[in-house]
Amino acid sequence: MPRLRVTLVLLLALVTQVLMLENGLLQTPPMGWLAWERFRCNIDCDQDPKNCISEQLFMEMADRLAQDGWRDLGYIYLNIDDCWIGGRDASGRLIPDPQRFPHGIAFLADYAHSLGLKLGIYEDMGKMTCMGYPGTTLDKVELDAQTFAEWKVDMLKLDGCYSTDEERAEGYPKMAAALNATGRPIAFSCSWPAYEGGLPPKVNYTLIANICNLWRSYDDVQDSWKSVVSILDWFVKHQDILQPVAGPGHWNDPDMLVIGNFGLSFEESRAQMALWTILAAPLFMSTDLRTISPQNIDILQNLLMIKINQDPLGIPGRRIFKSKSQIEVYKRHLSNEASALVFFSRRTDMPYHFHSSLLDLKFPRSRVYEGQNVFTGDVISGLKTENNFSVVINPSGVVMWYLYPIQSLGFSSETSQL
Ligand code: GLA
Repeated sequence: MPRLRVTLVLLLALVTQVLMLENGLLQTPPMGWLAWERFRCNIDCDQDPKNCISEQLFMEMADRLAQDGWRDLGYIYLNIDDCWIGGRDASGRLIPDPQRFPHGIAFLADYAHSLGLKLGIYEDMGKMTCMGYPGTTLDKVELDAQTFAEWKVDMLKLDGCYSTDEERAEGYPKMAAALNATGRPIAFSCSWPAYEGGLPPKVNYTLIANICNLWRSYDDVQDSWKSVVSILDWFVKHQDILQPVAGPGHWNDPDMLVIGNFGLSFEESRAQMALWTILAAPLFMSTDLRTISPQNIDILQNLLMIKINQDPLGIPGRRIFKSKSQIEVYKRHLSNEASALVFFSRRTDMPYHFHSSLLDLKFPRSRVYEGQNVFTGDVISGLKTENNFSVVINPSGVVMWYLYPIQSLGFSSETSQL
């Protein structure tokens, strides 16, 4: 190779190395708990001491995550969102609100770690956070990264309020490099794309996927079915762009699960869980784990669902079918030739009998499948690609299947038992 080309290649390698977030983290989508959707910026600890943004709230959620089975299923992140900051000290270092976080963030991180959890924190690449607390201006990027690392924080969500396009374009890669430079593995959640409309050409997802472990592209989830559906619609509309950019170490984040709160029905809660799993989305619950109902725990602690969400191939799924009768089918390819199917009804009348075959859903011919209904646990056996089947889908609900081909053709049967 001519000398100039060698130098150029080396230089390029160096540049990408500097830009890459090389923390090796989040090979599968992160799971855990995030304060924002449920607890917002409630700082009124006098009137509402149990629910205000304070170390007590995070410690209580940590206890629940550790004691109620969540941690052992993979829900290990305990993430602080906005409204924790008290200001900056004389040397410019961030300090938490002294009344609400009297023992400091390092103490909370230690507490989380002692329970086998990880602690996430929130800042904003700009003058102020969305709720008006001191932000990370460009001159503070390195200092804040070091501070988070000293506190032994494990994830940073960097929001984008109160900044210009130029500041974000400089600041996000700069923070990725600063986090790398701390030597502490800190997962990096970027809200950058959401502030640029979420789509190319303004958003360069190749760059984003190199510097962020996850990223927000669209609106905040609210505690309503309308909000969940609007997020789903946006991700599906742009699935040709968004689906290919995610994979191990770098994920699309359609925002938190609102299961367990006030806005979703039972069917809608199952639907959010199933659809977020198909999208290979992070599973960040934002609900009160002290009072969550057994029914909602069942949805969030579904073993097979979590196995699908956490599939090691890390290939997000897509919508593959949409009918005039308001039924949609979503499919995600999983390891070992398995796949997940979600049959989703947008109907508002009554349970709908949907007829199809795996052939219609583009499965390879002449195979026999078995698997499980993810919610009921019913076994699916002897389902040939060519067999017709029907599923009954409740209004704004889902039926979800986990399927894998069985190699032994001798096992095939003409009838499918669903
Ligand atoms: C933005 C983010 C939310 C949350 C709030 C906090 O709206 O998108 O997820 O972090 O800011 O103020």
